Amino acid sequence: MRLLVCGGAGFIGSTFARQRVVEYGDEVTVLDKLTYAGREENFQDIRDDAGFRFIRGAIEDAEAVPAAIRASQPEAIVNFAAETHVDRSIAEPDAFVRTHALGTYVLLEAAREHGMRYVQVSTDEVYGSIEEGTFTEESPLRPSSPYSATKTGADLLVQSYFHTYGMPALICRGSNNYGPYQYPEKLIPLMILNALHGDPLPVYGDGMQVRNWIHATDFARAIGHVLEHGEEGEVYNAGGPDECPNIDVVNRIVELTGASADQIEYVTDRPGHDRRYSLSSEKVRALGWSAQVRFEEGLAETVSWYRENEWWWEPIRSGDYRAYYERQYGRALG
Ligand code: NAD
Ligand code: TYD
Repeated sequence: MRLLVCGGAGFIGSTFARQRVVEYGDEVTVLDKLTYAGREENFQDIRDDAGFRFIRGAIEDAEAVPAAIRASQPEAIVNFAAETHVDRSIAEPDAFVRTHALGTYVLLEAAREHGMRYVQVSTDEVYGSIEEGTFTEESPLRPSSPYSATKTGADLLVQSYFHTYGMPALICRGSNNYGPYQYPEKLIPLMILNALHGDPLPVYGDGMQVRNWIHATDFARAIGHVLEHGEEGEVYNAGGPDECPNIDVVNRIVELTGASADQIEYVTDRPGHDRRYSLSSEKVRALGWSAQVRFEEGLAETVSWYRENEWWWEPIRSGDYRAYYERQYGRALG
């Protein structure tokens, strides 16, 4: 297939782009604004592949998007482009509104003009928090952070384009992703790099919040299944095979890195912190998908990847990320 992958310089988008080019022989054009989270290093290994092309541009740019479509002649658009960190959405929500609302609208208009298949990459956070049981595609949408609320708005707009204009649009919602190339503002890479550097490991609240972990290669494959086999207008959830309280994740990272448990520090909780996420994946399983990576082995491999790929994270950890970290955690990185 010829694909326009928006946000393909980020963590999951680049994982998807790599998978489609290398394993499926697709022609992939990445359109990405290169925010702090978007990095050309993320697709360095495929950038010289004949099936890969990169265009820098924003999804809310009503000139850049049609130009990218003209240049790449895609059969489908897959939209990963987003602001993705809940803590940043609490501190500064404006970019979340712009990218998720306006950006999704501009992409949908362009896709509609060409009658193109469109997959919106979304999150379990649109359903809010669940103490027991698991969310299905029929669960009510109850987002609680500016991140999840604006992602929900984007999902509703996508659904309206299917209902109103008959646009062939689909949504794939994933649970918490982890794996190589994840920006170290997120729990797992933050804890791995802090553990390796002897920095404190900041656990929010009581550390008993539960997340449903999915390896990014599994989520990318689920999105590919939805793209190829999903029914127009439908939503598909892709949840990981394992759930884990945050403190257990952190303790496991301490063991895997050989850090000291004394580095763990309980800090002030995130405002409005969702207690638990859990996603059922029956519907996407019926399309032939299943998760391949269990959390135990995936986490160990992820720790090894960060250990071995200092070239990737060193420029982040010595750059703007330091100022972000100080603002967010009230202390400097060591
Ligand atoms: P990321 O923050 O690593 O990457 C986001 C990418 O989008 C970056 O390359 C960034 O430059 C780009 N981008 C941001 N705003 C843009 C704009 N206006 N125009 C063009 N490009 C822009 O994010 P990620 O973790 O890879 O998440 C990708 C998608 O998956 C998001 O839509 C996110 O909501 C969804 N998702 C993420 C997770 C997770 O755990 N990380 C879980 C479920 C769903
Ligand atoms: P995060 O990686 O930000 O993903 P999300 O909020 O989208 O689930 O956080 C995962 C969990 O880890 C969440 O419950 C918040 C918690 N957390 C910490 O305890 N300390 C931290 O420094 C971070 C970044 C997250």
